[in-house]
This record gives sequence, structure tokens and C-alpha cells, in this order.
Amino acid sequence: TFQPTREDRFTFGLWTVGWPARDPFGDATRPPLDPVETVHRLAELGAYGVTFHDDDLLAVEPDRDRAIASFRKALDETGLVVPMATTNLFTHPVFKDGAFTSNDRDIRRYAIRKVMRNLDLAAELGAKTYVFWGGREGAESEAAKDVRAALDRFREAIDTLASYSTERGYGIRFALEPKPNEPRGDILLPTVGHALAFIGSLEHADMVGLNPEVGHEQMAGLNFVHAIGQALWHGKLFHIDLNGQHGNKYDQDLVFGHGDLKNAFFLVDLLENGGYDGPRHFDYKPTRTEDISGVWASAEANMRTYLILKERARAFRADPEVQEALAASRVDQLSVPTLEPGETFDSLAADDFDLDAAAARGYHYERLDQLAVEHILGAR
Ligand code: GCO
Ligand code: MN
Ligand code: MN
Ligand code: MN
Repeated sequence: TFQPTREDRFTFGLWTVGWPARDPFGDATRPPLDPVETVHRLAELGAYGVTFHDDDLLAVEPDRDRAIASFRKALDETGLVVPMATTNLFTHPVFKDGAFTSNDRDIRRYAIRKVMRNLDLAAELGAKTYVFWGGREGAESEAAKDVRAALDRFREAIDTLASYSTERGYGIRFALEPKPNEPRGDILLPTVGHALAFIGSLEHADMVGLNPEVGHEQMAGLNFVHAIGQALWHGKLFHIDLNGQHGNKYDQDLVFGHGDLKNAFFLVDLLENGGYDGPRHFDYKPTRTEDISGVWASAEANMRTYLILKERARAFRADPEVQEALAASRVDQLSVPTLEPGETFDSLAADDFDLDAAAARGYHYERLDQLAVEHILGAR
């Protein structure tokens, strides 16, 4: 049990297990990983698919055509699919002041071209989602960046690429990935909420949604389950990056569940019961301490943790005591519209409301929360 299968639709970025573990203070602790080996190992572990940045394909083979040919061959041999792809607009020094929002116009034009080239490949490989993580779109100094002009250029880039993808008939949807900071001091579109507001201003707003990452909202001190709840409510949860994070600090990209475990439990509960039908994508980094055997153990850990939490969420929902506690907390009552059909504000005038009695009523959330914790701990 807890053995992943293709039906679970677990996917991994090539850059996750393939991270050589270089950080700002130290050199790589692992050699580069051949994408071909990654595809084979992930398939053996029970994953469904793999995702990539354009540059990830070149990890060990600098010739693009040859790299793509061997990647395709590995996909054919294993049956792994490519549901999502993305662009590296952050590693090369040319992107040090951003890509779509660099103050340098030539660089902005180059960045859009780089995306178009990889969009062609993504479409050929059958990707349905294209992710935009604007890691370098930001600043360290308020004087350096006119945020209003930067958002104009960000919108221009996304609108241009959306019409490119539409005209080519790719049928790909775009997913913006928010992050508050790192590598820039402050990044544009820092949270799910900021990105949702930005999407509303786009020409092709209908084909643009979100790729929220667990740790990124948590870096900003926000509740990821609430962010996903609102993204679903707007119909904008196009994709998701699952990982772990311990509160407000540098981006840890831990294994899923190895950060805020309780939030991870409620996240799985929401994804499984809240209408999300996309891949369960892991965007994490095996810690720098690990050799290659630790890397594959960590890949497995992501999937096992998800499946265990899925089982725990099922048990939680099925527990008669939980059902009774949910009713006692009146959780279902929130789905009842506040006004009856046909009522208007006038209907609210005369109400036999007992203010003191209503104020005195308890909600019994402590009991409910403890039941959840006991289910998470396997004590029930
Ligand atoms: C991060 C980001 C990146 C992006 C990925 C896609 O951890 O800061 O999640 O990993 O998701 O590079 O561009
Ligand atoms: Mn991510
Ligand atoms: Mn991250
Ligand atoms: Mn990441």
C-alpha cells in the first residue's frame, strides 16, 4: 500500500531530482543528472509524468536536437508524459534584472523569443500547461523599478505569448507562479492574490491561471490551503507545485509534508475533494546533504506522503465522530445563502434576532481541530 501508480498522476520537474545542490554559500554536492536516467527512475518509482525548463534538457548534452531526441526516446520507452513545461528566465546573467520586465528592451524581446521556442517543443511533447515563474522579475531597490511600467511590460509579454500559442493552435493554458522574494529582494506578483488581480487585466484572461507553490505562500506567512481555496473559487487552479516549508524564511523546497504537515493534510483533503483534476506536481529540492540514493528516496517520499495524507483525509471524512463534530460546528451552514431567494435588503429590517444568545453560542472548533490532528497522527 501507498505504492504510487500512474493513476495517481504524480509528476516531477527534471530540475528537482536533478538539482546538483549548489547554494549561495557552497558548490554543488552532486553531479548533474542525465534527464534520460531521471525519466527511467521516475517511471520505476510509479510517477506519471515529468516537466522541464528548456535548459534542463541540456544538463549533460549541450546539443539541443540530440538532447531532445534522447529525452523523447526515454518518454516512449517508459510511457511517462509531459503535462507541463516552462522556461528558464533566471539562470543566465542576461536575466539579472528580469526577463519580461528587465529595464533593457533588447533583453525583454529575447526573453519572449526564448519562451516561444520552448512553447513549440512543449506543444510537440503534448504539454497542456505552460508555467511562468518570474523569479527575476523584481528589484532590490524601489528606485530601480517602476512597478506600474513593469506590470505593463509583464502584461504585454503574457498577452503576446498567449496570442502566439492561440494562433499556433497549441491548446496550451498558461499558469503564473507567484513568489514573494528570492532570488530578487522583492518579486512582482508576490502572492496568489496579486497574481489573480493581474490575470483579470489580461487580454486572454480566460487561458491564464495559476501554478501556486506551497512554500511560496508560506514564505509570505500566508495559509496555502486558503490560497488554493480562493484559486479554485476563481476557476484558476490550472496546476500546482507541492513541497514543504517552515514558515517565513528562505525558500526551502522541502519534500511535500516535511514542512507544515497539518496544512499539507488539509491541502490534500481539498485537492482530492475540491474539484482539482490536474497533475500532482512536486517542485522540491532534495537537501544538499543527500547523495544520489537520498535523491531517489526523497522522490519516493513525496509520493508516499501524498498517498498517506490522502488516506488520512478519507478516514477523517468517514469518521462518524468527525461528521458529528462538523455538524456541531455548523460548517455546512455556511453553504446556505444569507438571503432567501427573492429577498432583498428590505427583508433584513425586521428580524427576531437574539443578539445575546447568538453571541454566546460556541463553535466547537477546538474539538474539530483535535480530531484532525489525531487522524493525522494515526491515533484514530
Ligand atoms: C522556486 C520556483 C521554481 C519554479 C520553477 C519553474 O522554487 O522558486 O518554484 O522552482 O517553480 O523553476 O520555473
Ligand atoms: Mn515552483
Ligand atoms: Mn520554491
Ligand atoms: Mn522550486
